[in-house]
Amino acid sequence: TDGGTDDDSGARVGDFVHEGLRNLEYRGYDSAGIALVGASSGLTVAKRSGEVANLAVPDVADATLGVGHTRWSTHGPPTDANAHPHTDCDGDVAVVHNGIVENYAALKADLSAHEFTSDTDTEVIPHLIEEELAERSGAGDLLDAVRAVEDRLEGSYAICAVREGADRIVVARRGSPLVLGRGADATFVASDVTAFLEHTRDVTYLEDGDVASLSADGVEVYADGDLVDRETETVTWEADAAEKGGYDHYMRKEIHEQPESLRQTIAGRLDVDRGEVDLDVSFPPGFLADLEEIQIVACGTSNYAGQYAARLFEELSGVRATVDIASEYEFGAGRSPDRTLVVAVTQSGETADTLGAVRRANAAGARTFAVTNTLGSTVTREVDDTAFIRAGPEIGVAATKTFASQVATLAMLAVSIGRERGALAAADVRPVLEGLRDLPGAVQQVLDNENRVREAATEYGDSEAFFFVGRKLGVPVALEGALKLKEISYDHAEGFAAGELKHGPLALVTPDTPVLALLTEGGRADETMNNVTEAQTRGAPAIGCVSAGDEYGTLDVSLPVPDVGVAEPLVANVYLQLFAYHVANDKGRSIDKPRNLAKSVTVE
Ligand code: F6R
Repeated sequence: TDGGTDDDSGARVGDFVHEGLRNLEYRGYDSAGIALVGASSGLTVAKRSGEVANLAVPDVADATLGVGHTRWSTHGPPTDANAHPHTDCDGDVAVVHNGIVENYAALKADLSAHEFTSDTDTEVIPHLIEEELAERSGAGDLLDAVRAVEDRLEGSYAICAVREGADRIVVARRGSPLVLGRGADATFVASDVTAFLEHTRDVTYLEDGDVASLSADGVEVYADGDLVDRETETVTWEADAAEKGGYDHYMRKEIHEQPESLRQTIAGRLDVDRGEVDLDVSFPPGFLADLEEIQIVACGTSNYAGQYAARLFEELSGVRATVDIASEYEFGAGRSPDRTLVVAVTQSGETADTLGAVRRANAAGARTFAVTNTLGSTVTREVDDTAFIRAGPEIGVAATKTFASQVATLAMLAVSIGRERGALAAADVRPVLEGLRDLPGAVQQVLDNENRVREAATEYGDSEAFFFVGRKLGVPVALEGALKLKEISYDHAEGFAAGELKHGPLALVTPDTPVLALLTEGGRADETMNNVTEAQTRGAPAIGCVSAGDEYGTLDVSLPVPDVGVAEPLVANVYLQLFAYHVANDKGRSIDKPRNLAKSVTVE
C-alpha cells in the first residue's frame, strides 16, 4: 500500500504513487491501482489486473493526494474488479488495504443496503467509512470515520483512505506494517520504505493501533484517540537491502517472516474452544462420510508438506492417506474415484508435474482439491476446491515460509474433514488447534535462537556430508531439511527414516558426517535417539532438535523446540532452514537463486 501527498503539480502525485508501486512490486504483483484526489477534479480511480507497468497513471492535473496498491490476492482472484483501491457506493471514498479483515462476512451482512462490486474482504472498509460519514451528516471528518471503522474491524491490516473534497490521507495499522516518509515537499506512507526511498530517508514507523492523518500541514499520529509523538529516524539501507528488510537474502527474510505468515494462514480459521476449523470449503453432501482415501500429489518441498499431512489425515480424519510424487502419480487400481479426494499441494499453483497429476485425477473422475499460495493460478482453475495458504509472496527459490503455511493449512483441512466425518470429538481436536494457534509464537522462539544454529553451521558446515533423521512426523522434516541444505549449499545431504540408518546408510557415517535429528513430540523421540547413538558410536557428531523440557545429554548441539504437540516437527524445521542458510552463507553461495533451479517449474 502506498500513498503520498504533495503540494506541487498533480502529475507528480500520480507519478510518485506509480513509481512507489513499481518499487513495491516484489511484494506481490497480480493487480494494481491508483486513486488521485484533486480540489476540482474530485476522486479518480484507475485499476486493473496485471503488472504495475500495465497501469496508466490517471490524468489528474490538480491532484494533491494519491493512494495506490499492488496486490497479492488473498480473497478473490486477480481481476480488475478485485484490484484496489476499492470505493464506496457514491465513489467518494477510496481505500487500499493490506492484510485480512477476518470478520468481513459479518460486516458485509450488516451492509446489505450497499452494492458490492468485488469478492474482496477490503471492500467492506470504504462502505463502512461511507456509513460513518453519513451518520455525521456527511460533514464529519474522514479521520473520525476511519477511527470508528477501525473499532469494527477484526484481523490484521494496514489501510489508507482518501475522500473527495478532503485534504488528507487517513491511515491505520494493526498487524500489517505502515511507515511514513517525511520529504521536503511531500509526505509519504507505504507498507515498506522501498516505496519512497528515492524521495526521503527520514521515516516514522507507525505502531499497532496507530491512526494517522497526512495533509499539507503535516502528519498527526493518534493512539487510543490521543495525539502522540512517534520518533523519526533515518534509513541508511540502500534500496536493494531495504527490499530484503535489511537481511542479506530473501530466504533469510522469509524464514524470519514465518511468525507473521503463519498468523495470516490461521487468521479467522480456528475456533479452539469449539474445536472447529473454517477453511471456507464445502464438499457435496455425503462425500466426506463415504470418503475412503485421500491421495496427496506434490513435488519437492510441497511433497514433504504432503507427507507430513498424510499422517495427520490418517490420525485426525480417520481416512487412509497416500502421498505420490506428482510426476509418478497414476490414479491406481482398486479405488473408487467417487470416494477419493486428490489433494494437490503446490505453492505456485503452476508446477507442470503437479498439474499433470491433477489432470490424471480429474480424468479418472476423482474429486480434486488444491492447497496453494497463489490465487488465480492454473491449479485453482482445474480443481473442484481450493484452500489458500496465505503465506504472502515467496521470492527465494528455496521454499521456506510456504512449507510451514502448507503444513498448517493441511492440518486444518485434516481437522475439518475429521470433524465433519464425526471421526473426532471437540475435546480430541483441541490440543491440535492449540498447537496451531501457538505456532507463530513457537517459531519466533526458534528464530530468537538463531545464533546457536549459526554457530553449529560454522562448526560443522565443512563436513563431507550431512544426514537428517526422524521418525513419523520427523521423517518428512528430515527429508525437507536435507533438501534445503543440498539446494542452497550444494553439499551432499540426505534425509532418512531414523530406523533405516542401520539398514544401509550407516555405512556412510564417519566423524565427518554430522547427523541432524528430530527429537520432538510427534516423532518418537526416544527411539530416534537410539539411532542417533548408533551414528555417534561411529564417530558422527549429533545435532538434535529436542522438545523443550526433554534432554539428551550426549548430543553435541541441542536446540530446544517449544511445546506445540504435533506441530513440533514443523517448528523444528525452522532450525533446519537456518542451518542450511548459514552453511550456504558461510560458503558464499547464491542463496536466493541456487544454480540450475527455478522458482516455478513449468515443464514436465
Ligand atoms: C524446494 C522447492 C521445490 C518446490 C517444488 C514444487 O525448496 O521450492 O522443491 O517445492 O518445485 O513447487 P510448487 O510448490 O510451486 O508446486
